[in-house]
Parts: sequence; structure tokens; C-alpha cells
Amino acid sequence: MGFLVIFVCIFARNEAHSGVYVTIFGGKMGQKRQKKARVENFKQPLNVMKITEAIKTRRSVRTYTGEALDDATVGQIADYITDLRAPFGAECRIEIVRTAAVAEPVRLGTYGAIRGATDYLALIVRGGAPLTREGAAYMFEQVVLYCTSLGLGTCWLAGFFDRGGFKKHLSLRPDERLCSVSPVGYASDKPHRSISTLLNGGKPTSRKPFGEIFFDGVFGEPLSEDRAGVYALPLEMVRRAPSANNKQSWRVILTGGTPHFYKTPSMGYENLDVGIALCHFAETCREKGIAGGWKIVTDAPSAPKAAYVASWVGNPDK
Ligand SMILES: Cc1cc2nc3c(=O)[nH]c(=O)nc-3n(C[C@H](O)[C@H](O)[C@H](O)COP(=O)(O)O)c2cc1C
Repeated sequence: MGFLVIFVCIFARNEAHSGVYVTIFGGKMGQKRQKKARVENFKQPLNVMKITEAIKTRRSVRTYTGEALDDATVGQIADYITDLRAPFGAECRIEIVRTAAVAEPVRLGTYGAIRGATDYLALIVRGGAPLTREGAAYMFEQVVLYCTSLGLGTCWLAGFFDRGGFKKHLSLRPDERLCSVSPVGYASDKPHRSISTLLNGGKPTSRKPFGEIFFDGVFGEPLSEDRAGVYALPLEMVRRAPSANNKQSWRVILTGGTPHFYKTPSMGYENLDVGIALCHFAETCREKGIAGGWKIVTDAPSAPKAAYVASWVGNPDK
């Protein structure tokens, strides 16, 4: 059939299941090439743009030129995804869905929020283990930032999109769920007045002040950038993170030199939001050589109306 869809399928698993499989379907759906790669960890540095630069550059792009990604760029993204592994043992994978080669254009439903996109990334999760969506969002955001570093536009979509329509173009197994999608392509210089743009008056999306979301010792006590010390930059990168409806539902309490991360309710999207925040924080720490890793501690400070997620600790294995 005159139809081309490339699926890049990555299963990110825990230590016991570290194999990563890439399956590429090209031309006829029956022609299948499968490659297996071992990935020991999820510490994949961005190789095109610094992470802090990518975070500062990224914005939600909702209008695209209509030009399909070239095969080399798709290959680069697929290669990047192959080496990724989600934290917290989250079982998830990402498919790249290409629709440009289709004689009859595939209309992937975004209810008018996205225009001119022909290529999409789809985040698929499996199982209900704790922190699955957080870990998956972390990995998806790594790909979003990688695409930014390649000069491409993206836009997280978790609410307003036609799941049924997308599912028709994905190879979902019965135990898998489509979690989020993002267009990926060349940004148009003529943005349309989408719902979101109208909501925001067409201005760059603003963020809450540092001291409103990051706290010093106890929940509610504003943290200054000075007091944040070495974590000032990683936290600033969290502050710039995208979030559903721009709710910025993440909170951090810095106590005894340890940042503890929390999520506040955001219509069910808080797990994804906080996963993105953890990604920005950890990847910035890695870029700046700030040692540490994620650990779920038992003595995190309590926070009203916020749920504890994880802490960044110097030696997470102890
Ligand atoms: C988990 C998540 C879900 C989102 N869902 C949608 C969506 O359904 N539709 C949409 O237009 N934007 C969506 N966005 C994009 C946000 O509106 C956007 O990130 C936020 O307003 C900040 O703007 P910026 O990304 O340009 O910095 C989503 C973002 C995140 C992180």
C-alpha cells in the first residue's frame, strides 16, 4: 500500500530487562528490520546543543511548515531514542509516526491545536508501577530537548488530542497505553492563533517566580537563588520546564543540602509535569558535573497539598 509509517519502538526497562529493541517498518508493513542494542543506563548527554541551551530555546510550537522531516533527521532521532533508558524502571517506549508519504494525508486529531505537522512522537507506557508516568515523561522530554537541539519544534500534547485517531497509527499491545504525543518538525514563522496562543495573548509563556515554587527548609518559605547555591541553575532549568496548561505543578524543598521534589494536583497531568522537571534538573546537574542521583527517602519534609516524588542525593546507592 502507498503508505509509509516508521515505528521506533523502545522499551525502557529495569536492570533485569536492559535490552532495547528498535523496530523499523518501512514501505510495506510486512518488511521488518529488527536491531537489538544494550543500554546500561539512561545518562545520555545531548551532543548537539548544551542541555541548558536546549531548555532555554524550547517552546511549544503549534504551527509547522508542512514539510516532512528528512530520513537522515528521523534516523538521528531514532538513534538518540535507542540509547535512552527511562529512570525509576519505567516501562515505556516512543514511536515516531510519519505520515507525509501517504497519498491520502493522514489527519491526526489535535482539534486544531497543531497545524502543518506531518511527523509525531508518541509516548507509550506499560504497567502500573509507581513512577511509570514520571519516568516516561523524563525520557520523552529528553527526546523533546534533543529535537530542539536539532532545530526542530515540538509540543507536548496530553489533553487535547484524539487518542483513538492516533492509536490507529500505532502498534499498541493490549497492555500498553498511549500517554502523550508531540508533533516534531519545522516551525512555521506564521504561527496561527491557536486556543493556547489566544489564552496566552501570543506572548512567550510566563513562569512563576523562583521563590514561589522552590522552598527553603519548609514548604512555603521562599528559596533565594543565593541560598540554592550549586542547585540554583538546575532549579532555574526546572522553572523553565513545560507543564500542562502551564500550571507548573512541581515544587521543591531544599533542606540540609538535599532538594526534595513534590507534585501538586494538575488535572491528572502532574505525573508528567514532574517527570519533565526531574529531567531538566538531573540533566543540568550532569552537564554541570553536580554529582547525585534520584532516591526516594523516608525523611522528606511534609508538604501540604503536595505529594512527595523523589530527592536528588549525592550518593543515591547509600
Ligand atoms: C504534560 C503536558 C501536556 C500538555 N498538553 C497540551 C495540550 O493538550 N495542548 C496544547 O496545546 N499544549 C499542551 N501542552 C503545552 C503547554 O501548554 C505548554 O508547555 C505551556 O503552556 C508552557 O509553554 P511553553 O511550552 O511554550 O514553554 C502540554 C504540556 C505538558 C508538559
